[in-house]
Amino acid sequence: MANANATNAHSKVSAVGQPLNRVDGPLKVQGKATYAAEYLPSQKPLAGWIVGATIPRGTITAIDTTEAEKQAGVKAVLTHLNAPSQLPFGQPEDKGRFKQSRAMLNDAKIRYFGFPVALVIADTLEQARYAASLVAVSTDEEAPNLLTSPEEARDVPESLDGGLEADASMGEIAAAQQRAQSLVNVTYQTPTQVSAAMEPHACVAEFDGTKLHVHMSVQVVASAVEAIATTLKMEPENVVVHSPYVGGGFGSKLGVFNETILACLGALHLNQPVRIALSRRQVFKNAPHRGHSYQHMTLGSDENGALTSIRHNSYMPMARDYQFAEPTGAGARSTYRADAISSTHRVKVVDSPLLDSTRAPGDAIGSLAFESAIDEVARKSNIDPLTFRINNMPDKHPVSGKPFSSHALKQCFEEGAKKFGWAERQSSTNGNKRRGFGVASAVRLNMITPSAAQLSLTADGSLKVSTDMTDIGTGTYTILTQIVSDYFGIDTAKVTVDLGHSTSPASSGSGGSFGASSSGSSVLLACEKLAQKVCQLSGYKESSAAIRFADERIVLSEKGSGKELAASSIATLIGKSGKDKLSVEASIAPGDDHDNYAQFSTGAQFAEVEVDTVTGEIRVIRQLGVFSAGKILNHKTATSQLGGGMIWGAGYALMENLVTDQRDGSFINCDFAEYHIPVNRDIGDIEVHFIEEPDYKASKLGSKGIGELGITGSGAAIANAVTDAIGVRFREFPITLDKVL
Ligand code: MOS
Repeated sequence: MANANATNAHSKVSAVGQPLNRVDGPLKVQGKATYAAEYLPSQKPLAGWIVGATIPRGTITAIDTTEAEKQAGVKAVLTHLNAPSQLPFGQPEDKGRFKQSRAMLNDAKIRYFGFPVALVIADTLEQARYAASLVAVSTDEEAPNLLTSPEEARDVPESLDGGLEADASMGEIAAAQQRAQSLVNVTYQTPTQVSAAMEPHACVAEFDGTKLHVHMSVQVVASAVEAIATTLKMEPENVVVHSPYVGGGFGSKLGVFNETILACLGALHLNQPVRIALSRRQVFKNAPHRGHSYQHMTLGSDENGALTSIRHNSYMPMARDYQFAEPTGAGARSTYRADAISSTHRVKVVDSPLLDSTRAPGDAIGSLAFESAIDEVARKSNIDPLTFRINNMPDKHPVSGKPFSSHALKQCFEEGAKKFGWAERQSSTNGNKRRGFGVASAVRLNMITPSAAQLSLTADGSLKVSTDMTDIGTGTYTILTQIVSDYFGIDTAKVTVDLGHSTSPASSGSGGSFGASSSGSSVLLACEKLAQKVCQLSGYKESSAAIRFADERIVLSEKGSGKELAASSIATLIGKSGKDKLSVEASIAPGDDHDNYAQFSTGAQFAEVEVDTVTGEIRVIRQLGVFSAGKILNHKTATSQLGGGMIWGAGYALMENLVTDQRDGSFINCDFAEYHIPVNRDIGDIEVHFIEEPDYKASKLGSKGIGELGITGSGAAIANAVTDAIGVRFREFPITLDKVL
């Protein structure tokens, strides 16, 4: 629970961090949290079903909807011939991918296998789905561009996600390689992956004649408004987005995708509310995913096990007309010191569903390959892989040379080694079963993005936060409640948090691990502003007085001495302002510290596995992570999030693989029966620990990002444990049992 003794005596929150239960938990378990598809507009929504292209690339020459239109319950069949007018896909070019037009059914062009070519709208889902099977599409087919070897990826991406440069280097790489005693020259491959959020993408759109109300599942609300308005050539003030509950996003809901635009087109065309809820199979084609990668590395170390050279070259696909490339080499640039470092990224434009951020873009699969290769060079140098990592810790950013705002990776390893029992571990054989142990670094960029929030105090002493920030399962409702409760020393029950409505001040949204620090800092600033306002109304300088809530009263006391200065009822105080409540708005943005310092969250990942040498089965026995991400805002939600990330790591190492049919670019295994993600039985013991080191250069709250940290390195720790168990190195993920045999 919140610490009742907390005051605002200084701007740095000291009591945030307790493992408060999720404040939205009861609503969720009672089914009272309304997710996008569950929203009921004034009138029962019609159901939309998408007709997807069955060729990878080409042009629609004819489309016959007459049979579909004749079916019972069918209200309309939208195609590029009758859909409302939109700005062409990808325009305006300079707006960036989250605000550009995401037009659907706007021309005869087919962009990928499964690309929507028609939308059937009917009274019921079943009617729409059946009628969709009767839409006849004639096409001119072209051969798809796919990435089938690293040599084909030659384009230099404009920039990488997170604002990184495509190429970065430091030192003389050739000379550094020559000095190496142990040299590893390897290519790793990671497969196509999907975000696999629990809640499939959905949208209910309703047009009231002026405003378009869009109930959708999206991570960032403000840019969604802009993307929808841009696409439909509407004024942004006439687009209202609601996303109060999001059942996971993992990057696949950062932007506006097919189902949302299609539902909006349907609502505008029919002037009736339209709901599109994707089936799981449709999610694989209509939501963005992660491309496969080839990662070529040459790593060298000298006779003392010091890294001389780190060269990392990444090759990946990029979707046509969609500027997004993963910073796969970010870890190679940021984790260890070396005499020389060189990192490049090359892409090939392909005809596939959109490629976008997926669960720690860059670092998730970058660390899978890089931290495996680091293990290879450690073993080749005959040095314990944990010792090797500690010996190569950087004291400043290895490429930019900037100082770290804080950096506790070494402590994470030292603490983790103790907690895991690294020194006492014993690789063992028991019949067919071999045990092995692995370790890896987790290093993830810390970002802040502009974020605003409103805070209001009403006469009954309750405080309300309003911001368009989202809670994608991460715990935003809870931590924002804690920040306010702690600042004023009031019970969490007195605080309400209203999220996900575009009518509220624009926030960072959730993504890139920046959500909690960005939106939380804006809420902390709002608390400070409200305190100032209270002091002013009471006739005191905010610099000299601290405020505290006691029942329906506000008590001001002298800073330092704590001597009571004044006390008044909240109602009286608000009365003085002439309004029915006291409201403030605050916004934050990254400051100079984000330019002047290298900011990273870090962690040490440990794993123990058991490999059956007869069946090839790999079981994860336990995973342990020690993480440093500044101030931890809520130990319970943070532990869940990091543990969840570590589970995704097991998925990357051992299971996940979206298979592409090379003839037509279609995905073959579009469900969870065939696209395997870890379930309870696949995971052993998980432990999450923290080295807590508040970092006020990273954010006003002292927190750094954790959302994507748990995923980073966890897969490599498992892969390294597999090699430790059976002495074989697998360089093509996932490590499935057919490869082990
Ligand atoms: Mo994240 S993969 O930027 O939601």
